Amino acid sequence: QKGGFEHFMLKEIHEEPRAVRDTMAAYIKDDIQDLVKNLPDLSKYNEIHIVSCGSAMYAGMIAKSLIETKARVKVDVEIASEYRYKDPILSKDTLVLLVSQSGETADTLAALLLAKEQGIDTFAIVNVVGSSIAREAKYVAYTLAGPEIAVATTKAYCTQVALLSLIALNLAYIHNRITQKEIDQIIEEIHCLPDILNELLKDEQYITAGKIISRHSNVFFLGRGLDYALSMEGSLKLKEISYIHSEAYAAGELKHGTISLIEKGTPVIAICTDERLFEKTISNIKEVKARGANVILFVREGLNVSEDYYDYKIEIPKVDMMLQGIVTVVPLQLLSYQVANLRGCEIDQPRNLAKSVTVE
Ligand code: F6R
Repeated sequence: QKGGFEHFMLKEIHEEPRAVRDTMAAYIKDDIQDLVKNLPDLSKYNEIHIVSCGSAMYAGMIAKSLIETKARVKVDVEIASEYRYKDPILSKDTLVLLVSQSGETADTLAALLLAKEQGIDTFAIVNVVGSSIAREAKYVAYTLAGPEIAVATTKAYCTQVALLSLIALNLAYIHNRITQKEIDQIIEEIHCLPDILNELLKDEQYITAGKIISRHSNVFFLGRGLDYALSMEGSLKLKEISYIHSEAYAAGELKHGTISLIEKGTPVIAICTDERLFEKTISNIKEVKARGANVILFVREGLNVSEDYYDYKIEIPKVDMMLQGIVTVVPLQLLSYQVANLRGCEIDQPRNLAKSVTVE
């Protein structure tokens, strides 16, 4: 059942190239006339509320970053358990977009029903066919990750990011914010993604970093923009399966309090893939390094950082920013897996957690 892997989580990470390929193939149009197929027309909405929980919400944060920067459409990312009780401000031009692997998460479902009762359009991105959220939403698009057994989501998250990235690309196209040449290049890269992901799965750069982290009880992640969203996911994955306390910070925010926790040897995992924000993140890395942090740098290839500022470097293949999240998450997942494995944790079934949270 585990296909020769020690845990379902590792098996599911190795299914990501296939899962991303299938999900993309289900929604990219083959002819050039239109970019996507099997997706609702999102051109009429001037605001999108992405409502979800946990990793699905962090996938939503990636979408927000891409949709706002590339398509200039306003996106709010909301924690479902907050959204449902805050009397959200909704208008006919708002789309409520629910993201859920299981399609059964109680708070996400309740948020959907709340919007639906008010006559607001709802669109669900769901992995489990026929699940409650899929049935209740006005529009549904399935991620094609296949069944996910490990409690911590990996391949489903990866396909959520893939589909949301495609939606962001389509919105940029609809709103004339991207040239045909850029689209063609991105589509070409999408076709290469399975190979890139397969190569990443063979890459063992993260192993030394895993050994370092496994000996600590406090870890920080930092990044800006898209890399901040990825930091949130990397941090959640690490804490939920390895039981190491971890916090993710927007890199520029650390100095507003949290930097007091950095002492000699504290591991700081810095994610740096966005060229536009690169210099800014490096200056934050210098700040933690100066306080003795043990810096593990996830950096996109082609971005040069002096060896003075990190202790260990993991290089991430360069793809278009629209697709960078899909690629960068893989070594983050492998790192968490390795740390949890070194610590002898019950990886597929961490304590206190359930695969599908059907209570509020
Ligand atoms: C983390 C994880 C959870 C889920 C969250 C939402 O690894 O799996 O944070 O992402 O419980 O679940 P779904 O996507 O089923 O609504």
